[in-house]
Amino acid sequence: LIGRAFRNQFVIPEFQEFAGVIDSMYHKCLTNTEGKVADYIPQLSRFDPGLWGVSVCTIDGQRVSYGDTDMNFCLQSCSKPLMYALALNELGSDIVHQYVGQEPSGRPFNEISLNSNDKPHNPLINSGAVVITSLLKNNLSLPDRFDYVQTQFKRIAGGEFLGFSNATFLSERQTADRNFSLGYYMKEKKVFPASTNLMETLDFYFQLCSIEANCESASVMAATLANGGICPITGDKILNPQSVRNTLSLMHSCGMYDYSGQFAFKVGLPGKSGVSGAILLVVPNVMGICVWSPPLDATGNSCRGIQFCDELVQQFNFHNY
Ligand code: DON
Repeated sequence: LIGRAFRNQFVIPEFQEFAGVIDSMYHKCLTNTEGKVADYIPQLSRFDPGLWGVSVCTIDGQRVSYGDTDMNFCLQSCSKPLMYALALNELGSDIVHQYVGQEPSGRPFNEISLNSNDKPHNPLINSGAVVITSLLKNNLSLPDRFDYVQTQFKRIAGGEFLGFSNATFLSERQTADRNFSLGYYMKEKKVFPASTNLMETLDFYFQLCSIEANCESASVMAATLANGGICPITGDKILNPQSVRNTLSLMHSCGMYDYSGQFAFKVGLPGKSGVSGAILLVVPNVMGICVWSPPLDATGNSCRGIQFCDELVQQFNFHNY
């Protein structure tokens, strides 16, 4: 960082100016009062709809944050691309994609449906993420598997805040009739490796949805993806570039629920949203962004978060095309 500073070789040389524009975008989105906080579990419904945070971390470690960026929230589906990246990194794409496809499903994220080969459409919807969960270090005990993923997530976040909400885990499990149905349906269709314990796999999936971050630590996670798998804060090489490329490709096409096509069209960047109101947004080779605000639109994406992403590509030319 210091070397780059002396050579003035930052990816965003005028960072103060850039941060000023982010600040005005933050304030513009703050006035957006649309959307509804998720209410299927009390741990989500209790969030104040006024909460709104934006954190940016560039691939050379420049940071800026506005708003509620040190409040904890569960990653929920934002953990899906990270789980997928870890599975790819560990097993390679050929093995992982024996179990899961690469197509957007065009269907709700929790729908009980498989593709024509009886595989989940992609790893970023529930069916695919549950299968990815079944692949992660499946030769270890459940506690060791959880420790492993938490440790890797923490490395991806540069050692910054990561927690675990046991209350969310318990609530998720209590209200998971759909995920249990999905699990049994996939078991019947022999989607999982033969040795899979379905109940343990679903518990593990609920636990990984219940890992907590805040905007600041989640922006480092996004920045590690922007930086080819090397954490820009610590220099730790966690994921190989191929795994990151595959992850970003599917975030681009499948990361934003049923809005993924429109998001790819309008914003043109890889993103992943979660029902807690977080969006991980990656500007490859430039920066990672986490935006978080609990009120969601009809497609399940954070209203302020989507507005911010739209504003970002209007202000700066980050769209891929
Ligand atoms: O599995 C569920 O229903 C939720 N906990 C998933 C969370 C989420 O963000 C939805 N995403 N695809």
